[in-house]
Amino acid sequence: MSVDSIAFDRQRPTRHLLSSPSRSPALSWKTTPGKSDWQQTTYQIRLDRPDWQPTTYYVNSAASVAVTWPGADISSREIVKVKVAVRGVGEEEDVWSEEVSVEGGLFERDDWSAVPICAVGGVDLSGRVPVTLLRKEFTLGDRDKMIKRARLYVTALGVYEVEINGRKVGDEEFAPGWTSYGHRIKYQTFDVAGLLRKGENAVGAYLGDGWYRGRMGFEGGRMAIYGKDIGLIFQLEITHEDNTVTRVVSDDSWKASTGAILYSEIYDGELYDARMEKPGWSSPGYTGSGDWSAVRELPFPAAALVSPPGPPVRCTEIRAPVRGFTTPSGKTVVDFGQNLVGRLRIKPCGPAGHKITFIHTEVLEKSGEVATRPLRAAQCTDHYIMKGGGEPEVYEPKFTFHGFRYVQVDNWPADSDLLADVEARVLHTDMQRTGWFSCSNHLINRLHQNVVWGMRGNFLEIPTDCPQRDERLGWTGDIHVFSETASFLYDCSGMLQGWLQDLAFEQMDDEHYVPPLVVPDVIDPAKFPRIPQAVWQDVAIVLPWVLYTRFGDVNILYSQLASMKSWLSSGIPRDPATGLWSKTFQFGDWLDPSAPGDAPQDGCTDPMLVANAFLIHVTDLLSQISTILGDPGGAAAYATSARALRQAFNNEYVTPTGRLSSDSQTAYVLALRFNIFPTSAQVEGASRRLAEVVRKSRFRIATGFAGTPYILPTLTTTGNRQLAYRMLCERKCPSWLYPLQHDATTIWERWDGILPDGSINPAEMISFNHYALGAVAEWMHASIGGIAPAAPGWKKIWVAPVPGGEVSWAEVRFLSAYGEVYVRWEIKDARFKLEVRIPGNASAGIVFPRGARDEEVLIVEENARSELEEEEVGEDAGEAGDRDTCEKVLEVGSGVHVFDRAWKEDTDWPPTVLSHPYMPDKE
Ligand code: BGC
Repeated sequence: MSVDSIAFDRQRPTRHLLSSPSRSPALSWKTTPGKSDWQQTTYQIRLDRPDWQPTTYYVNSAASVAVTWPGADISSREIVKVKVAVRGVGEEEDVWSEEVSVEGGLFERDDWSAVPICAVGGVDLSGRVPVTLLRKEFTLGDRDKMIKRARLYVTALGVYEVEINGRKVGDEEFAPGWTSYGHRIKYQTFDVAGLLRKGENAVGAYLGDGWYRGRMGFEGGRMAIYGKDIGLIFQLEITHEDNTVTRVVSDDSWKASTGAILYSEIYDGELYDARMEKPGWSSPGYTGSGDWSAVRELPFPAAALVSPPGPPVRCTEIRAPVRGFTTPSGKTVVDFGQNLVGRLRIKPCGPAGHKITFIHTEVLEKSGEVATRPLRAAQCTDHYIMKGGGEPEVYEPKFTFHGFRYVQVDNWPADSDLLADVEARVLHTDMQRTGWFSCSNHLINRLHQNVVWGMRGNFLEIPTDCPQRDERLGWTGDIHVFSETASFLYDCSGMLQGWLQDLAFEQMDDEHYVPPLVVPDVIDPAKFPRIPQAVWQDVAIVLPWVLYTRFGDVNILYSQLASMKSWLSSGIPRDPATGLWSKTFQFGDWLDPSAPGDAPQDGCTDPMLVANAFLIHVTDLLSQISTILGDPGGAAAYATSARALRQAFNNEYVTPTGRLSSDSQTAYVLALRFNIFPTSAQVEGASRRLAEVVRKSRFRIATGFAGTPYILPTLTTTGNRQLAYRMLCERKCPSWLYPLQHDATTIWERWDGILPDGSINPAEMISFNHYALGAVAEWMHASIGGIAPAAPGWKKIWVAPVPGGEVSWAEVRFLSAYGEVYVRWEIKDARFKLEVRIPGNASAGIVFPRGARDEEVLIVEENARSELEEEEVGEDAGEAGDRDTCEKVLEVGSGVHVFDRAWKEDTDWPPTVLSHPYMPDKE
């Protein structure tokens, strides 16, 4: 038995992530019991802090995820040592964890003595802007040689990278990250004791425009959205053994210059002239050129400086090229075999002044040339000018990133080996990977891999729509539809919690409390005003709910409550007669494949029907959330409102037999999924009609952003799991597997990003790395694999695999807040074998698939609890399993459970297309 993985506000302290995001961080831990069916009954938390007697808090509770900080608030710079002990039901001994430390950051404005500094003189923002270099030297005397602790608190208006004595501090990229800078700016805390030395020391900082001052937004975008001046805020605090403190802070004693980075921009790329490097500039004793000038102090930001609630961006993987080739027009292209997000690192040898150019693209034109058109106004091009001298020159751009698989390399020096001297460095927010899936069908596995890559590329500081063209923005609708899938694949809770805070801040700035369409909001209101949009701004309610149910921390509901409520009560324009959305422009079921290329909102489902279905859904959620937060009055009011909305929806769109005014996949899916039909006859009618519509569409997908996450789950829960499998396995356009025939390695924005003839879809909006349609992966996890949370944070787990199609086995694994959940099933020789592993302090409800139910039972492993001893409880399987599973649930505790049952498939495979008997389908 052990207790470990103690986390503070769901983060585990690391060398580079020291400061607690809050003064009273919620605590979580994991238990690894030595026996099965282990449930915690009490816990103790021991806090050992300076100037206090160690204190132990004893709590009778089974909670082990996001429990309330028991002591007084942590103060700035305070180090608190924490140990946790747990006791299981029926046990007499407590088991203690190792001790871990949590550290207070700079919580108060007065903790900062640094001021933001920038180079003197204005910058001409109509042209390219070089990256600023800032430096300062300082001496640590004899008295200082005993350093007890050295903390660097640092941030910027813009993006920065710091070096101390010539060595980079930390391994973060794009620090301090992108937030709603007017409200919240993240600062980083580093332990830099190892970089300091007795005597002369120097610090140097690169300061770039980043999102703060660089061009952001489509249709030309805008510069300097957050301000014309960028600045560095640097506060180094060295605590000596005698407890005296030396501070080195950014102030007017620093010097500024520029170096080799002539510009570095998010969309356009970087120009680097190695001849202009300033060797040794961040080391002491630098005697370089005299072009260092004074710096200017800027006003301290009004925004709160906060320690990040989630991990930073890092390089998480390095990939070598898989091939190089020459295009028909004679260009040299390197193929990395994977559409990824990051940058190149090169090490060419060549003569001084030789300029190499790198153009990054995701796909090739049918002609074989690199396809730059989808990038629109983003140049995605880096230039490197060599310094010469015979040595390999190692270079990686600093403040830009590209979405690419192919790189056209112009003017590579003749005596360097291109394929050996370039590598791709993959960059994204370095979240912990938590979810894995595989099954017997390799195409489904490839699709799943593409979903994972889509998430990696688009979780860079904020959840973006795409990583390549002149957008890369936090589109609210995209993360709404992808949120469940994302929360399975990676622990994105901290990152998304921070993003939701920004959403709420920016929403509250709006007179009607409408959240922005993109967060942080950088869209020029003159071009695209902030309009209320269902699905998109519904993220304000859905995302906190998803984070709560997936990660188990109720604080997210408390902190987002005002945002959720005001979106419903004030943000959504209502028809006064019905309470439904008033008729406004809607993105609707965005990018349903029937929509014209230049009008993605004009799909086959009435956008108002889509909007109103989601209105009912979010009203239901707010009713549930009110109950959880102890507000029964609020819960009742939202429930009443949801009832009235259902009535109005039914009057407007539904026939007595369950047909909908839009006879489309998305319409039936949303109405069924959100339980909108009042009678079971209508549910039956709609379920039947959905199946017909799917068969009539020849199993091609006909949903956009709104319907895609739900179509397969809804087919499954309405008794049509084989149709769900059939749709997933369809390979003709439009379908999920179609892009694989064009060698897709990420999820495309459009179902037909590359047309069947191999040409790129002529639409202007065409990205090959958009995660939204990858929301299907949640069905793979929950239904093919068979695991889903049944209680917040996965304290209780549904194990409900739904075999179908020709899939003969599946394996799924999830690192929950309680520990690892694992399921593997296999159908072989008319047997259904299931292995289930449930972590300590959690439990599961197992719902066997129909073909394996009520059959002879064989227990094959000794450590499995005997199935015959288990009591099958009459609990409703709810959303778990396929519809015909409204059956008993087998309740099990933690541990390994192995089952072996007889298997009998009783449905036909493959399902057939619905066609007229006299005009049979030709396919
Ligand atoms: C983005 C989308 C987004 C949409 C909404 C697009 O340009 O890439 O993913 O949700 O705009 O209008």
